[in-house]
Parts: sequence; structure tokens; C-alpha cells
Amino acid sequence: MVQHRPGTAAVAKRNEYNIIGADVPDETLFKGDLLVASLSAPPRTVNSIYYYDDTGSRLFERLCEEETYYLFRTEKEILTQHATSIADITGPIPLVELGSGNAEKTRLLIDAYVKAYGQTSYAAVDINHSILERAAENILSVTSDLDFLGIVGTYQTGLAQAANLIGPKLLVCLGSTMGNMHDDELHNLLLEARSALSPGDYFLVGIDLDKETEILEAAYNNQTAILTNLCVLQHLNWRFSGDFDLFKFRHVAFHNKSLHRMESHLEAMQDQLINLQKLKFSFQLEQGEMIRTEIMRKVDLHAFHDVFIEYNFRSVQHWTDSNQWYAVSLFQLAAESTELESKPPMEKML
Ligand SMILES: C[S@@+](CC[C@H](N)C(=O)[O-])C[C@H]1O[C@@H](n2cnc3c(N)ncnc32)[C@H](O)[C@@H]1O
Repeated sequence: MVQHRPGTAAVAKRNEYNIIGADVPDETLFKGDLLVASLSAPPRTVNSIYYYDDTGSRLFERLCEEETYYLFRTEKEILTQHATSIADITGPIPLVELGSGNAEKTRLLIDAYVKAYGQTSYAAVDINHSILERAAENILSVTSDLDFLGIVGTYQTGLAQAANLIGPKLLVCLGSTMGNMHDDELHNLLLEARSALSPGDYFLVGIDLDKETEILEAAYNNQTAILTNLCVLQHLNWRFSGDFDLFKFRHVAFHNKSLHRMESHLEAMQDQLINLQKLKFSFQLEQGEMIRTEIMRKVDLHAFHDVFIEYNFRSVQHWTDSNQWYAVSLFQLAAESTELESKPPMEKML
């Protein structure tokens, strides 16, 4: 059983699960002032967190089943083959996952830990409450030797949870979720992970690799991807009493080769004035103007590892699929701390 520092949450009993954080006010997770700032002037953007209300989370699960969305099945294939090796390397250890989603792939990892070491502790952290219920049901339907704790919160909540665990731990971030982070977000997350973890702790990251435009663009232009993108506007409408008309936008997703990423946008099909009543904010969109809703980094694996090294993580081992489309990398926080230059080293990946 994992030990917690005094005053922190205890995990659920065997065969039961606990989800905490549901009472945290939504405004602390979905910050309206940041949204207003990002929509106020071109290039207008919406943080990808707005993909994940209940509808968006369901749609993401559907996207994972799309034939052209190779990411899910490729990462699953890697974990199916190598989960046991990962468990062998780390030894018995509690897991904390950032942005767990329905944890369908994490189940493979947990299964390997339970088989190797028996009772295992797993904290799943996600911004969406309903997906955590599905994660719990998913995992506990196949494994009972698990202390499952769901935490509704941000990645920072997850890092605080990891910091509260005494002893070695494994931080997990799958689904190429780190690829959705902008330079500053990624820089902050790696800095925060470095302080939350102790030397010797592990960090397992799943990341999508750069590849042919045709394959990439097919993954993000199927029917579910289009619907998922448009539903961001529906999310903004209900959360902030907005008046986006979904029929006045079109989905655009393309490979930005020079920045090594896919980008999803919503293009205004006519001039329009948008109001977000709860934020007391309105703005004018011209026909043809785009709102960027998500970036999806497509990295060179060595360059990606070099970035982690800058934050004091050493690469322990990585696993890829036979096409070299996707990678799962295991890092470990090194003992002595390197001095980080003030500028985030993300350009290393470009
Ligand atoms: C790309 S999905 C990956 C889900 C899952 N890890 C997988 O591999 O299928 C990203 C997940 O992170 C969650 N998420 C997005 N932004 C978040 C944030 N700022 N803090 C916590 N969770 C977040 C979403 O709700 C979603 O479940």
C-alpha cells in the first residue's frame, strides 16, 4: 500500500473506487480570462482543454476507433508488447497518470504491474469527471488488485499528487498528450514534473513521431475528427453562454511541416459577431478567419529526448512500432540537477 504524506487523500478500498476533486469549481479548471486573452486578437486560439467536456470525451473515444486514427492502436500495440518490460525496469511502484482519459491503454500497463507485483496503486488525473468513471470501470473490470484513485483536475493537480507520494513512483502521460502542449505549457510541465518527482522516479511518455503528410492529415480529417473539432464551439456555448453557430464554421486540419505539427482550426465561413455572455466578451470574425483549436506535435524522437535531458530526465529505454510511427519512452529523473537556460529549449525539436 502506498504511503501518503499526512493530510493528503487516501486511495480507495479493494474493488471500489474513489473519485475526488468533483467539487473543485469549474472556473479554476477552465479559466475564462485566459480564453478571452487567446480569442481577443488574431491569431485566435482556443486551448485544447475545451475539447474535453462530456461530449468531447465521448467523441475522443470514438476517434480512437477511426481507421485512419493510427495513434491509439499503435500505442496500444507497443504497450501490449512491452508493458512487462516497463514493469520489470521500474520494479513495484505506484502510477500517477496525467490526462488518463478512459485508461484503456493504461490497463495493459497496470495488468503487467499487478501480474508481476500484486496489489498496485494507480491515480488517474483528468479534467473530465465522466471519463474517470469509465477509466475506473474499465480497469476494475479486469483487475481487482488495484487501488484506484480518480482525480478531477489539471496536469498540475496530477503533479501535486505525485509529489505527495512517498517513495519511487511512475508518472505516465500517454496518447501523445504532451504533443498538444505549446512551448510554454510543455516547458512549465517539464519544470513542474522535475520538482514534483525525486531523483530515480520514472516518467513514461507516449508521443507521435513525424511522418508523411498524407498519413497525418488522414488521421485528423475523418468524420469524427471534424465533429470533435466543431464541438469545441458547442462546449464554449454552454460553458460561457456563447452564440457560436456551428453551421458558420468549417473544420480545417493540416500538416505544418516547418513546425513539425498538425494543426486543427475552425474557419469562419462568413463575417460574424460572437458573444460569450458569461465572460462579458464579444469579438468580430471576418470571413476566412481561423481559430486554432489544437496543435499535435509530430516529433523526431532523438530531438524529443534531448529536450527531456535539458530538464534533467535521462532516457532509460524507448519502444516503437514496426513502422516507427509512434514511441513510448521511459525517462528517469537524474540525481544531480542541470542548470536550465532561461529560454525553453523547444526549438531543439524543430
Ligand atoms: C489526447 S487525450 C489522451 C487520453 C488518454 N491518455 C489516451 O491515451 O487515450 C488527453 C486527455 O487529457 C485530458 N486533459 C486535457 N487537458 C487537460 C488538462 N489541462 N489537465 C488535465 N487533463 C487534461 C483530456 O480530458 C483527455 O482525457
